Amino acid sequence: MTDLKALVEARLAQGPLPAAEAMALALYHPEFGYYRRAQGPWGFEGADYYTALDLGPLLGEALAVRLERAWERLGRPDPFVVLEPGAGRGWLGRDLLQAAGGAFGAALRYLHRDDNPAAAAAARLALAPHLASGRARIVAQAEPLEPFRGAILSNELFDALPAQPYRWDGEGWSYEALTVDGPAWLRAEPCDAIDWFTSQAEGGLEAGDGAPWCADLPGLVGDLARVLKGGLFLAIDYGHTASRVLDKGSDLRRYKGHTVDGAWWEEMGRADLTADVDFTRLALHLERAGLGEAGHVSLSAWIRDHAPLATWEAAWQTLDAASRVKRMENLLQLTLPTAMGERFRVLEAWRSCD
Ligand SMILES: C[S@@+](CC[C@H](N)C(=O)[O-])C[C@H]1O[C@@H](n2cnc3c(N)ncnc32)[C@H](O)[C@@H]1O
Repeated sequence: MTDLKALVEARLAQGPLPAAEAMALALYHPEFGYYRRAQGPWGFEGADYYTALDLGPLLGEALAVRLERAWERLGRPDPFVVLEPGAGRGWLGRDLLQAAGGAFGAALRYLHRDDNPAAAAAARLALAPHLASGRARIVAQAEPLEPFRGAILSNELFDALPAQPYRWDGEGWSYEALTVDGPAWLRAEPCDAIDWFTSQAEGGLEAGDGAPWCADLPGLVGDLARVLKGGLFLAIDYGHTASRVLDKGSDLRRYKGHTVDGAWWEEMGRADLTADVDFTRLALHLERAGLGEAGHVSLSAWIRDHAPLATWEAAWQTLDAASRVKRMENLLQLTLPTAMGERFRVLEAWRSCD
């Protein structure tokens, strides 16, 4: 087998390839997967997409404030461990460690987890001083972790999990697949995904409603919840309630060179694929895993609730004009509805210590 295209063609000879399996191959095939390449996709010029971390340090600074409150609620444990699965370049950890001061900063231990080789290489650079001082550590996916008190946080992890689009056509459900003749919607058998979507369609189903189903979600949530002995679970991602995602008729998206389309079957292994996150289902599985107080709000609302806006304003007065403008742009990107403010949501859940 020479590349992913040849591998997919061989697979198609056996029958249709469901979109979720295509997404798993495209992103995580050990040799040809997009997230198994030496080169990362993140950034502006010459890259495929940017995340909130490319816009500046304010998300990390707001998280430092939010996590300090969680540390206080837990009774100020030392260490206060923060695990970030899907941590990419480690920039969120870097910004968080940079912003966390005092006794909280001294107790903070950051664990970067992402088996993407480009991510690990970039994180070794971004986190270098903190790796040297022992405040940060890069952990492999397979490394068993001792349960800890602290937090689990993620930015755009759940949207990168393989997901299977389903669609209601007015008479029945179909699932999306790649066939020898190209992409197609094929009649779906009864399954958990269909039961879930049917139960979540507020006001009934209309032709064109549909959503991606992430089969790996319960397993990943269970694995993460098991290591959190007490503290905060916080996930930042795009998506919405199950009902809103269904209403939108949400499908997989492909990002390549800062353009986005729905052609998930093209350039497999050389473009990013993402799916809207069903926050209703994510919250449900966190509750099933023993966490409470699960709820989610827009990123804009979360920033307004948690970010130290007055402190920021005072601190920015000491910066030169260009740096002040950059901070202001960073804040606008995180809060404006047309930028990330309403497209992204923040889910929080809490595990009380026994
Ligand atoms: C969209 S990127 C986000 C990276 C980073 N959080 C950021 O905001 O720039 C998703 C990352 O999740 C990683 N990933 C996917 N599934 C994972 C899992 N189960 N555990 C840890 N990382 C995972 C991928 O390798 C990829 O680097």
